[in-house]
Amino acid sequence: MPPLVQVIVGTTRPGRFSEKPIAWLVDRLCGRDDLELEILDLRDHPLPMYEGTVPPARSPRDYPNDAVARFGQAIDRADGFIIVTAEYNHGYPASLKNAMDYLFAEFNRKPVAFVGYGNVGGARAIEQLRQVVVELEMAPLRHAVNILPELMISARSAEPFSPELFASLDQRLETMVSDLLWWTAALGAARASAG
Ligand SMILES: Cc1cc2nc3c(=O)[nH]c(=O)nc-3n(C[C@H](O)[C@H](O)[C@H](O)COP(=O)(O)O)c2cc1C
Repeated sequence: MPPLVQVIVGTTRPGRFSEKPIAWLVDRLCGRDDLELEILDLRDHPLPMYEGTVPPARSPRDYPNDAVARFGQAIDRADGFIIVTAEYNHGYPASLKNAMDYLFAEFNRKPVAFVGYGNVGGARAIEQLRQVVVELEMAPLRHAVNILPELMISARSAEPFSPELFASLDQRLETMVSDLLWWTAALGAARASAG
């Protein structure tokens, strides 16, 4: 069985740009035989602003309600992640932070790579996310894909959007994914041997 790579869609607002990188990722990564791709859209997991009583790090998989349980069980299945993030006010979107704060064990010892977009390709949001995911005991990777404004403008004006508009990013994606798969195999084996 190839590793399950989950793509977390970090923004939820109407008209979100994230749909375009997601369409490109699906086009490029679906059908590969060295990974199974799953899109985890935070729109499908509406969670209230964090309201847990005990931090998830101290109450692993103890879900306060069905919505968090469904989200936790989905994240639990993954072997590695690609987080697709916007940059809101030089940070990552609150939707992403709120969702991640609900879990802990489900993310532990799994690798995560990033696709960002914005004025500096989401670089500031990605740097912040790298700090956050370390606290979830994840392994953030160096290689990332940064979608800059010129590409965002052409992608926004294209109707319909074609994944070919992001073809200049294909090599970066390939480098990032091959690194992600290396870490997915290494950490998957280590998690399995740790029991
Ligand atoms: C609240 C808000 C703050 C923003 N701040 C930034 C920013 O700091 N840096 C940036 O590059 N883009 C910023 N933008 C523009 C976003 O890059 C752009 O709107 C993008 O489409 C947002 O992602 P989304 O459409 O998936 O929600 C901001 C957008 C919003 C809505």
